Amino acid sequence: MKRQVLPLLPLFILVLSLSSVLGQVSYSIPEEMAKGSLVGNVAQDLGLDVRRLRTGKARVYSGESAEHMELSRDGGALLVKDRIDREVLCGETTPCALHLQIILENPMEFYSVTVEITDVNDHAPAFEKGEVAFSISESAAVGAKFVLERALDLDVGSNGLQNYVLKPTDHFVLNVQNREQGTNNVEMVLKRPLDREKNEHVSLLLTAVDGGEPQMTGTMQILITVLDANDNAPVFTRAVYKGTVTENAPKGTAVATVSASDADHGSNGKITYSITNTLDDVRSVFEVNGESGEVRLIGSVDYEKKKSFQINLRASDEGGFTDTCKLIVDVTDINDNNPVIKIMSKSTVISEGSNPHTVVTMINIQDPDSGGNGVVQCSVNENVPFILKSTSSNFYSLVTDSDLDRERASEYNISITCCDEGVPSLSSSVTLTLHISDVNDNAPVFERSSYEAYIVENNTPGLSIFTVKATDADWNQNARVTYILEDSSVNGVPVSSYVSVSADSGVIHAVRSFDYEHIKDFHLCVKAQDGGSPPLSSNVTVKIMIQDQNDNAPQVLYPVQTSSSVVADMVPRSADVGYLVTKVVAVDVDSGQNAWLSYKLQKATDRALFEVGLQNGEIRTIRQVTDKDAVKQRLTVVVEDNGQPSRSATVNVNVAVADSFPEVLSEFTDFTHDKEYNDNLTFYLVLALAVVSFLFITCLVVIISVKIYRWRQSRILYHSSLPVIPYYPPRYSDTLGTGTLQHVYNYEVCRTTDSRKSDCKFGRAGSQNVLIMDPSCTGTMQRIQNEKNILDEPDSPVEVRPCPFYIPSRIGLCIQSIVYALINFR
Ligand SMILES: *[C@@H]1O[C@H](CO)[C@@H](O)[C@H](O)[C@H]1NC(C)=O
Ligand SMILES: *[C@@H]1O[C@H](CO)[C@@H](O)[C@H](O)[C@H]1NC(C)=O
Repeated sequence: MKRQVLPLLPLFILVLSLSSVLGQVSYSIPEEMAKGSLVGNVAQDLGLDVRRLRTGKARVYSGESAEHMELSRDGGALLVKDRIDREVLCGETTPCALHLQIILENPMEFYSVTVEITDVNDHAPAFEKGEVAFSISESAAVGAKFVLERALDLDVGSNGLQNYVLKPTDHFVLNVQNREQGTNNVEMVLKRPLDREKNEHVSLLLTAVDGGEPQMTGTMQILITVLDANDNAPVFTRAVYKGTVTENAPKGTAVATVSASDADHGSNGKITYSITNTLDDVRSVFEVNGESGEVRLIGSVDYEKKKSFQINLRASDEGGFTDTCKLIVDVTDINDNNPVIKIMSKSTVISEGSNPHTVVTMINIQDPDSGGNGVVQCSVNENVPFILKSTSSNFYSLVTDSDLDRERASEYNISITCCDEGVPSLSSSVTLTLHISDVNDNAPVFERSSYEAYIVENNTPGLSIFTVKATDADWNQNARVTYILEDSSVNGVPVSSYVSVSADSGVIHAVRSFDYEHIKDFHLCVKAQDGGSPPLSSNVTVKIMIQDQNDNAPQVLYPVQTSSSVVADMVPRSADVGYLVTKVVAVDVDSGQNAWLSYKLQKATDRALFEVGLQNGEIRTIRQVTDKDAVKQRLTVVVEDNGQPSRSATVNVNVAVADSFPEVLSEFTDFTHDKEYNDNLTFYLVLALAVVSFLFITCLVVIISVKIYRWRQSRILYHSSLPVIPYYPPRYSDTLGTGTLQHVYNYEVCRTTDSRKSDCKFGRAGSQNVLIMDPSCTGTMQRIQNEKNILDEPDSPVEVRPCPFYIPSRIGLCIQSIVYALINFR
């Protein structure tokens, strides 16, 4: 404004120098008056005549500045020519005035007019920017100041900027300094702390007001962004979390997720999770995802080792605030353990005689799983006579269920199977091998209830006849069968003198040679006894049947053959054809075929006259007897048996073909030389008998003396325990004089001191054909066998059987020689 005023100054000086200033007038108008508005009547105020104005061509001179005013020449009124803006004209300069000259010509005159422009409140206070943004940390201290932009009001004076108002006033108050000076600072001051977590954005309105009438305002928006400060700790959503994990779950299995929140923002609210357990093994088993809070399995969990884990978790933000929580992880059992069978005690052998319910084995079952997974049921395989008894929980005893029989089953494989109740069920089993020990509960059993054995007579002594066999179901010693010949007697003789039984093998040996004609069969009883204690036994009857051999020739009973007499059968001359002359009667002591006799005519005086019946031995005439036939007819008939080979006997049959007995006598004189021969024989026999009798008496004397000597000797022998083999002479008996004696055996049986071994030693069978004529001529024929000499058991005294016919061997031989001589003489 000064600039505008100053240029006017030289003008004034110029004007004053050119002419004289005649009058001066001043006006005051408000700015912004409408065009043509009347400012004042200059002519009147200056005292000028209106015509003068017209003639003087009055005009307004405003210098260089724009012409705001014009002069009405008609009325002399000063009018607003153009809008007058005080703020443009003067700015802040006050007072603001327009200096005008009204210039008149003819004569040149000028007048000064001053028009003061007064302010009108036509400007509101205004801020440069409509809004302003601040970022203030929530941690900003109370009292912190923030400078605000000032507002501007072009008006002056009371129309100018008067005051500021800040709303709302929760956090900030306004501090306006140097209000008087106008160049004041506007500050807002934090009066209450900000909290980003409550209000992240705060919006304030700053209003500037002027003092005009009406009052005008200008506003500015203040946008405050509250910056976060780490003023909040993380907080877990729960203090204790729970989770479960099945045992043996694979690594990486998610167990649970913990979660914490932090009210802060950004890095202040970034939570990192971690596990804080230190003393236990949790950190080797679990890990937590630091960002997501998911807890995973990284190790292995075993319910049987640990049923629950307590994981201490920490959440921390980057500002160092933390929170902790607990995660309890329960391990869920899985049926992963087989039951364990422990054998506490066991016996591997049990006697078959054990009572039922005998305890064999005690077992203990353990299954570390829980619940049904750990409940175990045990069973024993089928088909064994054992059961399991549960004694107390997890303890079982294996007991026998029924009687055992080693002979049926000597060992058992008992498998005990234990299953738990898990799904799927796990099981384990053990197999016990139990041996059944033997008890002697089975007697030996013969293969058959009775036996029949055959032996052909005239066997070699010691020949094995037959074998009996008994088996014993027991074992080992209890099954060791010994065969024992039971005592019995056969025809008054102990059976042991017929047969012996081998104790080990059951072989029945003939002790002697059998004679079918003497004994056809006999029974013996063999006992089989096992080696148990006490022993069991059974017996069996063996029937020994002696089979016939053709060892006897037929014996002719009729006609009687004597050397001393002649017997003849008479055939009357009148006899017809087929006349039965006589009948040869013969017997054969053998049996069967061997005794089936056939008769044949061997020699005959006249073969044409007689025939012999093949079967019946009947001698019949086969033609009419004639007178020419000799009286004395001699037939030799052979009697033959049917044995293989056959044996035969011949018999002489004298037949007298005569009608009367004297005739026979005369005819038979030629038999006398036979008689003489017989007489001679009789004489020699009598002589021999006399000699024998003499010798016999002599011998008797010698015998007695020797016997006494022997007796004394045997006493000594007995005391010295030397084996004595006494010699017993054979007993003899007579035959009919025609027979022969065969196979007379003389043998000795010696038993060793161990009779059980049955080590029989048989003497060589001597075959001595011995014939002795019995003086008494009793006419019976016997086959004589030397008595078996038995040496008795050494623990019993030697018994010497009394023998009336005992003859010392040399004397016996002497007698035998004499008898031989006699026979040979014949
Ligand atoms: C018992 O088992 C053993 C060995 O496996 C076998 O040799 C034997 O024959 C079995 N015994 C029975 C009675 O099954
Ligand atoms: C043979 O056994 C039967 C029963 O089996 C018995 O009665 C008999 O006496 C026994 N005999 C002998 C000789 O032991």
